[in-house]
Amino acid sequence: MACFFRRRIAAKLGRALQQSEDVFIPALSAVPLFKKQKTADFKLSVNMLRTNGLLPSSGDIKLQAENLAAQLKPDSLVEDISADHGVVSFTVNRKLFVQKMLEPFGKQGDEKFGLNSELFNNLKRGTTLVEYSSPNIAKKFHAGHLRSTIIGNFIANLKQSLGYNVIRMNYLGDWGMQFGLLGAGFGQFGCQERLKQNPLQHLFEVYVQMNKEAEHNENLKHAAQDFFRQLEQQECQAVSLWQQFREITVNEYQQVYKRLGIHFDIYSGESCHLDQAQKVVQQLQSQGLLKTSERGTGVVDLSPDGDMSSVCTVLRSNGTTLYITRDLAAAIDRKLTYHFDEMIYVTDKSQSNHFQQLFQILLAMGHSWAERCQHVPFGLVQGMKTRTGEVVFLEDVLDEARARMLDNMSQSKTTKEMDDPEDTAEKVGISALIVQDFKGPLQSDYKFDWDRMLQAQGDTGVFLQYTHTRLCSLIRRNEGIEAATFDPSLLLEQTSITILQHLLRYDEVLYQSAQDLQPKHLVNFLLKLCHLIAFAHRQLPVKGSPQDVAQARLRLFNGACSVLANGMRILGITPVDKM
Ligand code: ARG
Repeated sequence: MACFFRRRIAAKLGRALQQSEDVFIPALSAVPLFKKQKTADFKLSVNMLRTNGLLPSSGDIKLQAENLAAQLKPDSLVEDISADHGVVSFTVNRKLFVQKMLEPFGKQGDEKFGLNSELFNNLKRGTTLVEYSSPNIAKKFHAGHLRSTIIGNFIANLKQSLGYNVIRMNYLGDWGMQFGLLGAGFGQFGCQERLKQNPLQHLFEVYVQMNKEAEHNENLKHAAQDFFRQLEQQECQAVSLWQQFREITVNEYQQVYKRLGIHFDIYSGESCHLDQAQKVVQQLQSQGLLKTSERGTGVVDLSPDGDMSSVCTVLRSNGTTLYITRDLAAAIDRKLTYHFDEMIYVTDKSQSNHFQQLFQILLAMGHSWAERCQHVPFGLVQGMKTRTGEVVFLEDVLDEARARMLDNMSQSKTTKEMDDPEDTAEKVGISALIVQDFKGPLQSDYKFDWDRMLQAQGDTGVFLQYTHTRLCSLIRRNEGIEAATFDPSLLLEQTSITILQHLLRYDEVLYQSAQDLQPKHLVNFLLKLCHLIAFAHRQLPVKGSPQDVAQARLRLFNGACSVLANGMRILGITPVDKM
């Protein structure tokens, strides 16, 4: 709906400055609420018009804004135009504003609200491959994997909502010497029964125990090396055991991801690109990019002056490939298989260097599409613990979030009326995790804090869910009086206008997140919306109001509820109706 007004104002500007209206669209934005004394709806950046050559860049900017404002005559749609500090502000006719903003929200809400905005027209909406989560088999699922999982899911959801074709990929750590230890260790300490019962736990235990024992036991060390050699030579028995580990791990992960509402289109992994990795080395060789280091390893020179001052090792001296070699092969293979237009890797910032090297080598090999590969780095999480101790598996965090939330909920009387309090507690607990994680810039480290993230008041995921359930219950209680039409002149109080002005920004907020892939814009937008809704509950009661007023207010709450739920889903949060 923001589009409707943006277009009209742009047309007005186009006529006044004798330009095509399109050029003004990017310079117009909804006025954010934190500016005090906000009355206007849109502002025009005169500065941007100057940079784009639409106004002379030499003149006095304040004067230019004033002249422009004076030149533009108010009309029945744009009622007020004013200039201040080089910015021209526009206020739309109130009744029309309310009417247009709430038009899309009938009884069902509007799942597409804001998503068809023309702001998105200049996005290159092709196929995006997002690789995220990517845990290592038989190892810990640490906080970094959790962050990768929820951030990657957010990016995929966002892109999908904006009309991209999204491929969601999980790239498992399913290859390396650890499988020598695991395979040989399973013979010593493993048990098929336990593997079936609790696969992740059992594989981890076997791995940890074998790792420890092999430190001072030469026989075990050899057994591990031998098992890995068998794997590399694709000997049947070793391969089939490895396959079993992998399959069982993927199955188990799928179950846990389901609790998070997350799925993957493809489970890939390092093991999928072993032969291709050798081919990559040959290509590097034939392109003259492969050098031999003093230690006999194969390296690619990445130094700007070609003096080997900065190199990347792609081949061990025994001829085996490394993590980066497999990533090179994987990237090339993905491009051939999925024809992506862009690829996004989500891992913690300690791997930034790895990905820069990866992209640099791909470019050196002539793969210009590497320009459209991107690493989204994030900071470290300190102190992610449960009541019983360290977090080893994703399940541990989810169980803890659910248990703590269930505790908190048991103090409220509505919990007893719920069909499935555990399920609700799980969804709310997960929202708390997500909002805590998404509130700041992704690159920042943060301290994990159960108590703070689970507070019902304050800027938490629980607060988002609480607001959503409160709106749902208001809508439920008034089902009888909802109507297809409403009278916009009954929603002219500042409280309703403020909510609608906030909703006006929704497409811009999504656009901003699509630009820098940071969830904080959307999170903070939704938290602000919830604060406005809390105020509106007090100021604009439905109960006890005349029918037409109640109907209009319900329409407003319906719209707010719908945008809140849509935004939550993009973040990866499942809105609950009761809690
Ligand atoms: N499995 C790796 C880890 O746990 C993350 C993989 C990231 N993706 C990649 N293409 N290298 O650290």
